[in-house]
Parts: sequence; structure tokens; C-alpha cells
Amino acid sequence: MKRILIIGANSAIATACAREWASQGASFFLVARHPEKLSQTAADLVARGAGACHTYALDVTHLDAHPAMLTAGLDALGEIDIALIAHGTLPDQAACEQNATLAVTAFTLNATATLALLTLLANQFERQRHGTLAVITSVAGDRGRPSNYVYGSAKAAVSTFCEGLQARLFKAGVHLIDIRPGFVATPMTQGLPLPAALVAQPDAVAKRIVTGIERQVDVLYAPAFWALIMLIIRTIPGVVFKRLSL
Ligand SMILES: NC(=O)c1ccc[n+]([C@@H]2O[C@H](COP(=O)([O-])OP(=O)(O)OC[C@H]3O[C@@H](n4cnc5c(N)ncnc54)[C@H](OP(=O)(O)O)[C@@H]3O)[C@@H](O)[C@H]2O)c1
Repeated sequence: MKRILIIGANSAIATACAREWASQGASFFLVARHPEKLSQTAADLVARGAGACHTYALDVTHLDAHPAMLTAGLDALGEIDIALIAHGTLPDQAACEQNATLAVTAFTLNATATLALLTLLANQFERQRHGTLAVITSVAGDRGRPSNYVYGSAKAAVSTFCEGLQARLFKAGVHLIDIRPGFVATPMTQGLPLPAALVAQPDAVAKRIVTGIERQVDVLYAPAFWALIMLIIRTIPGVVFKRLSL
């Protein structure tokens, strides 16, 4: 039976992943900001076949509170087979361009908090010498675009950090997967004018994530066609790219 820690457990993508694992009888330590919503998530997972479901309230930007969260998680689960980091927010790019505090706040949530959690969890996994550290970044980190480079640069920082950490943890028998979704229909993207044909449902993305973890994929685009889209976007010469309004 898998023992799974999820940070940002109320996120639509994380919940969809948890439902997949619940049907396999996994036990959970669920971490998110809002305890009431978290209790609902836990009850839903138990109804779907989960074993024990523990909950823990945490704002991930409170970096000093991370170690106590992990201690509680280990008390609840013993060891961790999978840790999924799924929190995030899509900042208002135009507002961030006018207000450095907003830009830095978005970076703190999407990058700094994630790097702090990865550092803490990596040491635990290295001690265990088994398990999977799964991090949701984004295709937005593959190239800085004028429409969302604050968010994109935070995700890129996490992806680069993951690439190095992946090679470190590999030597300890620990797997790290960098999950890069494209557009997904979740509260984060609600109301955005996205091309409908490119928007995936959380359930489909979750199935791909769960399979990617089982197969020990290093970098997972979700859905798969984003690997090709981002390959094309990355190969556009800079002299052309800066003239585009992407
Ligand atoms: N949807 C997309 O198109 C898309 C594309 C690429 C990557 N992603 C990434 O996928 C991940 C999951 O996002 P989602 O699409 O499932 O969106 P979502 O449903 O809006 O989930 C985002 C979660 O982040 C949590 N969060 C925000 N600030 C937090 C904080 N300070 N402390 C703790 N938790 C915090 C939110 O918790 P509250 O409920 O407490 O606000 C929310 O549950 C994110 O990393 C996102 O960047 C999403």
C-alpha cells in the first residue's frame, strides 16, 4: 500500500491524482491551506478506497513551518513512497510588471517555497533510499514568453533545480519526476481565454502523472503533445521569438 504526501492537496490536478491512488488503497498525508476543504478532500478519498487520510494545514510561503509539517507527515505515514508538490498560482502578469512586490510574491509561492520543500523532502528521501519526489512545474517554464514570464521564470527555476536534484537522488535510488502540464481546466485557468482544443481535463492529466510516476519518467509533458509544441517553441530563433506576442 502506497504512502503518499501531497502538498497543495486541494488543487484540482492533485485531487485527481489522489483519486487514482485512492482506488489502489493508498494512505495519504494531505497538506493545504484550508482545513475545511482538506477534510472534504480526505472524506472523498476514503469513500473512493483510500486507507488512512491525515490532513495538515500549511501556507507553503511560511518556510519556517515546513519541517514541522514533514515531521507530522512521517509520524502519520512512517516513510513516504510518493511526495507530490502541487501548489501554485497564476499571477496577473500585467500587474506584476507594474509592481515588483507582486512579482516577487508570485515567485516566492511558485519557486522559493517549492525549492524549500524540495530541499527538505530530498534529504528525507535520501535517508530512506527509495521513493518518488513528484513536482508539478509547467510548460511555461520551457521558454520565457511576454504574456507570463513571471510565472514561467518561477517554474523554470524549479525545473532547473529538479534537473540537478534528480541526478543527486538517482544515486540514492530515489526517483524525481518534473511534471510539465500544458493548459488544464482547473480553478487556476478559470475564465482565461484559452484555445479549447489545447485544454485538458484534470482526470486525463492525473492518469498520465500516475503512470509517469510508475514508469519513472524524468520529465513528463501532460498531455503528451505538449512535448512537441514546446520543442517547436524552444527552437524558434530569439530574433524571431522576441517579435512574437505569445
Ligand atoms: N491549470 C493549468 O493549466 C496548469 C498548467 C501548468 C501547470 N499547472 C500547475 O499545476 C499545479 C496545480 O494547479 P491546478 O491547475 O490544479 O490549480 P488549482 O486547482 O488552482 O490549485 C492550486 C493550489 O495551490 C494552492 N495554493 C496556492 N497558494 C498556496 C499557499 N500559499 N500555500 C499552500 N497552497 C497554496 C491552492 O490552495 P487554496 O485552495 O488554499 O487556494 C490550490 O489548491 C500548480 O503548480 C500549477 O502551477 C497548472
